[in-house]
Amino acid sequence: MLKSIKVSNDRIQQVNMALGVNGYPSQRALAYDTGLSLATISNFLTGKPVSYTSFEELCRKLNLDWQEITTSIEVISTPHRIRTNTQKKPNSNQFLDWGTAIDISEFYGYSQELTQLQSWILQDGCRLLGLFGMGGVGKTTLATQLAKQIQDQFDYIFWRSVPTVLSFDEMITDMLSLVSNYKENKPNINRVIHYLRAYRCLIILDHLETDLDAFDSKYNHFIQIIAETNHQSCLIFTSRNQPDEISLLENWLSSVRSLKLFGSSEAAFSLIQSKQLLGTEKQKYELCDLYGNNPLKIKIVVNAIIKLFNGDINKYLAQNTLLVSYHLSRLLEQQLNCLCDIEKQIMYYVATNSQLTTITDLANKLPHIPRCHFWQAIERLNLRSLIQEKAGKYTLQPVVIEYIMEQFKPKPVLELVNKELTYSNPI
Ligand SMILES: Nc1ncnc2c1ncn2[C@@H]1O[C@H](COP(=O)(O)OP(=O)(O)O)[C@@H](O)[C@H]1O
Ligand SMILES: [Mg+2]
Repeated sequence: MLKSIKVSNDRIQQVNMALGVNGYPSQRALAYDTGLSLATISNFLTGKPVSYTSFEELCRKLNLDWQEITTSIEVISTPHRIRTNTQKKPNSNQFLDWGTAIDISEFYGYSQELTQLQSWILQDGCRLLGLFGMGGVGKTTLATQLAKQIQDQFDYIFWRSVPTVLSFDEMITDMLSLVSNYKENKPNINRVIHYLRAYRCLIILDHLETDLDAFDSKYNHFIQIIAETNHQSCLIFTSRNQPDEISLLENWLSSVRSLKLFGSSEAAFSLIQSKQLLGTEKQKYELCDLYGNNPLKIKIVVNAIIKLFNGDINKYLAQNTLLVSYHLSRLLEQQLNCLCDIEKQIMYYVATNSQLTTITDLANKLPHIPRCHFWQAIERLNLRSLIQEKAGKYTLQPVVIEYIMEQFKPKPVLELVNKELTYSNPI
């Protein structure tokens, strides 16, 4: 139960001095500004217990760090912000803003990943967590499942799908409004950080790819602050691309973690099972492999098999051509057509060589690509999860190979060398 808290005896003088320093000529002025009674102000300034909410409000007005001016011995009842992980927050919807979070009543697989992510956040105190991977691999679904699983450990949950908000300022205003219990309504990052320190807040920003690619975007700046400042909250974000800045932060800060998703055979298989298709277990797993265990690609192909092959996997596999339906083609187009020529050349080479390719093979087989451009391209393909490395060798998903073979025609060597590297952002 939250009850009251008081200033420790050795801090009473400091607290009284803060009154003048912060422009309050009298206790009455502070009472007027905060809307609290004169008795509460007097109790606070003389080291008598006041309610936790009043204590927090007064510390805010007087620019005092609550942890510095009280000690655990003097906390009459534990404030919820310093509860241990095992305690549950009061069951109040007032603290939850799930925005447009998706329904995850049908969630399969990714169990190892979930355990790992949960432990990073709850045990290791991870402050910034990035989930990366190709479209449809299940980033949004996994982030939602994770947040639902750990929500009881947080005082506030704030979810936003970035493309659905008008601007960064609107998003940050909504966030501040929630974590301040609707007392504040300005786009003020400093105030957000204040609350992220005072409370355990879980923030989820989904589909950040476009905004992260802009180096100086406000989202980039905010994420950097979340990673580098001291607080007890966690921000989870999803993106198709892993920005360089995040790998840099991750290498130097233990509170920053990221996970690249490459599909889940359990999720893919369960999705096929849920539709009662005709076929053996082996054929179902073959289907999963062909579509890289990517849940969205599996959903699309299952749909097509139902419509075109009466739900018979065998008939589909027997025609020996991978189906790249309209929906699938659109999904791949979003991620592959924005590549520059050199990136396309590399993808084409990997796609047309059935053997797995090492990086040295790749470099040797494409000698006309200037080395520095080659390495930049490999780095970017990696950050976008477009090429997959297995024991030092590169490979692609069969369905991606199919698409590339059809769509990417190699350019004449001279044209490629003379062309400057141009990058554009995926949708
Ligand atoms: N673990 C899973 N279990 C069941 N369905 C999943 C799972 N992961 C993804 N899906 C389904 O696949 C589709 C794409 O998932 P989504 O999370 O939106 O991918 P991403 O965010 O990586 O583009 C959604 O329809 C979702 O319901
Ligand atoms: Mg998504």
